[in-house]
Amino acid sequence: MVKPSVLVTRRWPAAVEAQLVENYNAVLNTRDKPMSPTEIRQALKHYDAVLPTVTDTLSAEAFDVPGAQTKIIANYGVGYSHICEPSARELGMTVTNTPDVLSECTADLAMTLLLMVARRAGEGERELRAGHWTGWRPTHLIGTKVSGKTLGIIGFGRIGQEMARRAHHGFGMKIVVQNRSRVSPDVLKLCNATQVESVDDLLPRCDFVSLHCPGGATNRHLINARRLDLMKPDAFLINTARGEVVDEFALIQALMFDMIGGAALDVFDGEPRISPDLLQSDKLVMLPHLGSATRESREAMGFRVLDNLSDFFAGRTPRDQVI
Ligand code: DGY
Repeated sequence: MVKPSVLVTRRWPAAVEAQLVENYNAVLNTRDKPMSPTEIRQALKHYDAVLPTVTDTLSAEAFDVPGAQTKIIANYGVGYSHICEPSARELGMTVTNTPDVLSECTADLAMTLLLMVARRAGEGERELRAGHWTGWRPTHLIGTKVSGKTLGIIGFGRIGQEMARRAHHGFGMKIVVQNRSRVSPDVLKLCNATQVESVDDLLPRCDFVSLHCPGGATNRHLINARRLDLMKPDAFLINTARGEVVDEFALIQALMFDMIGGAALDVFDGEPRISPDLLQSDKLVMLPHLGSATRESREAMGFRVLDNLSDFFAGRTPRDQVI
């Protein structure tokens, strides 16, 4: 039997690539360069499966391929707002993602950012490496206590819930939640969390706000100038969701005019390009999209893609089918 043809758009963990090559007629991207829109279009034309990541934009134009060969887009990652949903549906393509296996590590990173921004860890490290540290003193780099404070979580899916677990059970934080649908009382009870009706209700109550909602058009600039103004003047914003959820221009203004205490970002609108104004702010901690970047999560994500592919090609519904 001829093995299905599979295109992998970036370098993946070696163990997963080896398995892909064994199971499929797989083409790997050994240069690890992001693919151009033309290359993506060509891929959709010629391969049975395309395995993209967040760095591949599968826009309506990319899907404008007469007689596409691709039947399944098996995304490596939980977020899939880089894939144009109406186009995939119109072409009858199946789309899968990789939930669960990155939730803990992404929440760990969100907690890392929360602690870093509250305790001015980035500033401290920069000062020390620059040779500017003059020694301990009672007034040096004074941060904000985290334990016992109120954390607002926007988007209470798997990652949001892991974040709540860490913050509540590890740091005694009070948890306030905003979510599109009603969260079951049993789930809220696990962290003694309170669900509020809207983002506007949540923001004024919180010392920290962590974003865990999907990206895409619906949530583009969910955090805008008006909403930043609803935050307490000493509150912190943490974003490990998607860059487009925050209006970066409004955030820069909010930081510049002390409208909020600080922010910590793992994701950026138009990444890896970073707005030069963001680089200027000392009240900002920034990481290069490391949410799921552990050996364990990245391997598990790859094997989850393999599971989705084997279900699909065996005629079963993949467990992570999202479209
Ligand atoms: C995810 O899974 O959404 C990560 O951010 C990588 O895409």
